[in-house]
Amino acid sequence: MADITVRKIRFSFEEPFSFEVTDAQLGEMLPPLALSMTMPYLEPYLIRTMRTALEHITDPVLAEDVRRFSQQESHHYRNHALLNDQIRGQFEDAAADALRAIEADLEADYQRFTKTKSLRFNVAYAEGFEAMTCSFALAMAEHGGFATAEMFPGGEIWAWHMAEEIEHRTVAFDVFQHLVGSYPYRVVFGTWAQYHYLSYIRRFARCMADSLGYELTRPRGEMHRTTLRRYLRTWSPRYDPAKVDVPDCVEGLLARYSAMVAASG
Ligand SMILES: [Fe+2]
Ligand SMILES: [Fe+2]
Repeated sequence: MADITVRKIRFSFEEPFSFEVTDAQLGEMLPPLALSMTMPYLEPYLIRTMRTALEHITDPVLAEDVRRFSQQESHHYRNHALLNDQIRGQFEDAAADALRAIEADLEADYQRFTKTKSLRFNVAYAEGFEAMTCSFALAMAEHGGFATAEMFPGGEIWAWHMAEEIEHRTVAFDVFQHLVGSYPYRVVFGTWAQYHYLSYIRRFARCMADSLGYELTRPRGEMHRTTLRRYLRTWSPRYDPAKVDVPDCVEGLLARYSAMVAASG
């Protein structure tokens, strides 16, 4: 059984933020902001998928992991929805409307996937998304990136979310193995899922960049190379997220957020 703790946290997002930063800082800010914009649509879709998967899961231990996974994702997207209100509020009306239009497209895609696609497709999508974002979260942790992430708009939401993504990293993979178990299917549809998801990250980021008169550049640097290295390993037939090395700082962060919940009563 995965060791997954559900932490009911709500961040306040009262800290104002500004886009009056250097081009380099803006280049670092926009991808996470784009990621945040997808969360209130992506994570409910994952939860719907897992709710259907639960009807077919015969392993009670995995079923409990799935319930906790869904509860964690639920707290994630509720916080991101609050952050996204703040993000939209930073833009002119036309740009905020353009962001809302992309959000509507994404929601329509995910509702369509839930209604018309097979469970194996939706489970492969979930696993493709989780494998990719966990690679990113692990690379951030490896490079002390959680401290950097606190400088993004939204502050601590990033460290909390990424740490919990690492904590529940085995669940979508285990569900896929339990219900589908086909390596070629995982590669084909997991890659498609990542392409689909990243196309929306690009749309959101480009919309924000255009409104700010900024030209998007490709991410570079050591952390991005580590992300790529970890991501490529997820395509091995021997890949198992239970066996990936997790940087020491993650445990401390999870303890920090458990304590935060306990302190809030
Ligand atoms: Fe999440
Ligand atoms: Fe997740």
